[in-house]
Amino acid sequence: MATGLLTPPDVSPLPIESYRHLPDSGLEQRISQVKSELGESLLILGHHYQQDQVIRFADLRGDSLKLSQLAAGSQNCRSIVFCGVHFMAETADILSRPEVQVFLPDLSAGCSMADMADLDSVEAAWADLGEIIDTKDLMPVTYINSTAELKAFCGRHGGIVCTSSNARAVLEWALASHRRALFFPDQHLGRNTARTMGIPLEQMVIWDPRLNLGGNTEEAIDGSRILLWKGHCSVHQMFKPGHVTQFRHQFPGIQILVHPECMMEVVAVADLVGSTEFIIQTIERAPAGSSWAIGTELHLVNRLAAEHPDKTIHFLSPMVCMCATMYRIDLAHLAWCLENLARGTPVNLIRVASETANWARIALERMLVLK
Ligand code: 13P
Ligand code: SF4
Repeated sequence: MATGLLTPPDVSPLPIESYRHLPDSGLEQRISQVKSELGESLLILGHHYQQDQVIRFADLRGDSLKLSQLAAGSQNCRSIVFCGVHFMAETADILSRPEVQVFLPDLSAGCSMADMADLDSVEAAWADLGEIIDTKDLMPVTYINSTAELKAFCGRHGGIVCTSSNARAVLEWALASHRRALFFPDQHLGRNTARTMGIPLEQMVIWDPRLNLGGNTEEAIDGSRILLWKGHCSVHQMFKPGHVTQFRHQFPGIQILVHPECMMEVVAVADLVGSTEFIIQTIERAPAGSSWAIGTELHLVNRLAAEHPDKTIHFLSPMVCMCATMYRIDLAHLAWCLENLARGTPVNLIRVASETANWARIALERMLVLK
């Protein structure tokens, strides 16, 4: 019997389960379809470590610095779908226009390094340090691979964000006005950068958040210029100096090109060191016939090898070093995220609370004006 009431439209999001077993070709077709439907209102950003199947759908790709600049400068879009990891999507939300919404196709795409420093431990470290040194003369510097809360901590304390592309410019800026810097969460990027600035190892201490005073004596803290948070990238720590020795022995004349998240002992024996964008540009400009072993994420190295068949490109480790969290963004999650966006049932919105976002933006903008 008719009741005169209309059945309410189904407003629940499409479930991810219905995408998991679809063939790649079908998923690719559905992704292309949404892209053409949404046109300029949709911007897909992709980090260079994404798998090939996914990165080919990115409108723009880059390293962490370039992607944050792209988010800050985006003009026409209403939605950014970020093929990267959580901290990158948060950064895009903080830097893009207020009306832009940012989505991460799989919320479990985090960064194990970013997880190594949380707000409570950094605040506890700051308080402990304040008992020994004057924190007015200590600048907090966070690698962009960190939560928005830590960027906000830096904003509140006169500090700044850096990426692997601009870490040296940022640390120079920090130490021009402050006697010391507390650098987190990546000890390797901090140490490698400080070394290029001529700061001796004796003036760097490691801060282990699980130990009293970070595992240091008061004298060591007092004599330090750089305090390095005990964090690392699980991917880049897999490259060892022995791998460099092996490649040089097996392929005389080979050049070693590594990311600054690698340990100091690897960086010390490499020919060239730089961010993901630097690594790509170096290979693009390299002469045909040159030979390289590259220490960074596997998907990028494999892509470079495929795109440059005139050069010999090796991966600098016998192990499979890939970023397992970036890899979670696959065709199924991308199609699921895009189709829900197009039908008005968006999923996986990344929204940083406004107070946190405001302070984090201050720290990010300090970085963006430097480079
Ligand atoms: P860049 O994008 O700055 O090279 O950093 C690499 C990385 O680890 C991204 O998480
Ligand atoms: Fe984090 Fe390392 Fe993956 Fe980059 S490569 S997202 S630092 S775990």
